[in-house]
Amino acid sequence: MVTQENNESAKTDKPEPIFIGVDFGTSKISITTSEGKNVLEQNVIGYPKDPISSKFLKKEVLYGEEAIKHRIALDIFRPIEHGTLKSNKEDIAAAKGLLEHCLKSIDLPDDVESYAILGVPAEASVLSKKILTEISKDFFTSAMVASDPFCMAYELGELENVLIVDIGAGTTDLCRVHGTLPEPDDMLSWPKAGDHIDQTLIKLITEGYTDAMVTKEMAKRWKEQYAFVGEPQNDIKVDIPVDSSALELSITRELMESCESIVPDVITGITQLISTYDPDFREELRNNIIISGGGSLIKNIDSYIEEELSIVGGGRVSIIKEDPFLAGSKGALKLASDMPEDYWKQLIK
Ligand SMILES: Nc1ncnc2c1ncn2[C@@H]1O[C@H](COP(=O)(O)OP(=O)(O)OP(=O)(O)O)[C@@H](O)[C@H]1O
Ligand SMILES: [Mg+2]
Repeated sequence: MVTQENNESAKTDKPEPIFIGVDFGTSKISITTSEGKNVLEQNVIGYPKDPISSKFLKKEVLYGEEAIKHRIALDIFRPIEHGTLKSNKEDIAAAKGLLEHCLKSIDLPDDVESYAILGVPAEASVLSKKILTEISKDFFTSAMVASDPFCMAYELGELENVLIVDIGAGTTDLCRVHGTLPEPDDMLSWPKAGDHIDQTLIKLITEGYTDAMVTKEMAKRWKEQYAFVGEPQNDIKVDIPVDSSALELSITRELMESCESIVPDVITGITQLISTYDPDFREELRNNIIISGGGSLIKNIDSYIEEELSIVGGGRVSIIKEDPFLAGSKGALKLASDMPEDYWKQLIK
């Protein structure tokens, strides 16, 4: 809490507040601070299933990558689903535990005022935003939520007539930016992104090779290594477990189809946000579309979307130049630092 200072010297001795940007994504949390620290962790928490696994792992709780590594011996919680924080007790506790773990890892001092902005999906539910703000109260002097794609635009300094397309794990989020904080009409969000590609890939592979055993982790790994849209450049072969052995099989068509399966909605979303924009600025918006999030790493995604857009009025599409996993938290940090002091004080009241 902001405290009243009693004398002048106390005022001057007061340490500078710390600003923090948090991107609470479906698959990862990223945090960036005004002290120049950052952390990127998988949004997963695991508790040993029984006393044996607890003894073997020597821990009562495992976070992020470590939890994924030992997932067989753990009860796993992924608190964010389709970009939204689940509202049951266990998942709220998991989200809080993960945030605490990440903040500990960057040594956030607890005797300094801290102001955080948490990036959430463009159309996150009121409940989800409220729970996240509540959780944050234990860690920061004050915190507020902001649309994730807007934070990305803020980080890029692209604040006029730009359309951000953030393809994450749980949701695809669109936000058109026109020099002010976005209004609800400026944003669109739907639960079809990286996780959907993984599920589609599993479905297509197991339809083609009925004995294949493909886990979600395998599909995600293959996607992250080879994802592409449009004309295949080479044949993609992977080792697929079949019965007690593994066969090297081609997944080129399956991977292409699953990656392309998210594109039609993106085209519809872009078209909708352009067609409802001020006609004087539509051309500029159409020619300033930026893809972000993990989905921006799908090979050829920019030219493929551009090609699809050419049928419905055209557009120019580019890939975010920043790290797509950190742009949200870096933008949230920038926004937090630029917020007037009075604004934060009003939130504390
Ligand atoms: N090289 C890659 N090619 C394609 N997809 C990738 C690649 N690397 C990561 N991804 C996918 O990007 C997604 C994660 O992206 P990101 O970190 O932007 O999501 P998030 O912010 O956690 O989720 P959301 O924004 O939906 O809440 C995952 O589905 C991941 O598998
Ligand atoms: Mg995201």
